[in-house]
Amino acid sequence: MLNVTDAGEGTPILWIHGFPLSSGIFEPQLAIRHIRHLMPDLPGFGESRAHIGELTMEDYARTVIDVLDHRGIDRAVFAGVSMGGYICMAAARLAPERISGLILIDTRETPDDEKGRQGRFDTIEKIKREGTGALVESMLPKMVTPAAPAELRERVREIMTAASPEGCVSALAAMAGRSDSTETLRSMQAPALVVVGENDPITPPADAERMAALLPQGRLVKLPSAAHLSNMEQAETFNQEVKAWLARVR
Ligand code: MLT
Repeated sequence: MLNVTDAGEGTPILWIHGFPLSSGIFEPQLAIRHIRHLMPDLPGFGESRAHIGELTMEDYARTVIDVLDHRGIDRAVFAGVSMGGYICMAAARLAPERISGLILIDTRETPDDEKGRQGRFDTIEKIKREGTGALVESMLPKMVTPAAPAELRERVREIMTAASPEGCVSALAAMAGRSDSTETLRSMQAPALVVVGENDPITPPADAERMAALLPQGRLVKLPSAAHLSNMEQAETFNQEVKAWLARVR
């Protein structure tokens, strides 16, 4: 069973975090009212125990769909940051009827190339040898811009430090093996909001522009002065954009 924050009443939004993070990255989104916020910690992240054995992106998607099943929720807005976005796209292939809307945040639809996959396998070996310390320190400068407040940077470091080595290894292997979601986005029936930090070095604005162009009902929002965790670094503007989009598509 996953640890899930279930807070508020209204339109359900299933917020799916990225790597190597936890549902803690969505703390600023709890301020959006008239929403039932469902925020799971993926296996091996935050307060959820790691899964024994390998996982595919589709397995992660089934795990988050279970969060809805356990609560008798038929349809929800699926919102994912980065790896959370990959999971949303896998869920869209498995169970498109469960998705009433899609929010893709600092993510991409394309799979890893050969170099990217090799990088994942090298990171897996490093984590097995040395733990996650080096991964946390190498990813932190990409999560928020140098101008981000020190408390925000420390909170992100704290969230990443809570990730278990087992959780990270499983997620890296799943990301390395993920499918191309181009056709998934092209055939998306639900309305979609694509958000990107203008300074995101991991999934830069060009990725968001491409996804928004593929989506039949895609709206693109670029947030200035934000890196990979644009929902945290520009939380107020991000929340306003989500509220405005929800009001239009509801
Ligand atoms: C994430 O934030 O989930 C990861 O950086 C995504 C990735 O490595 O592809």
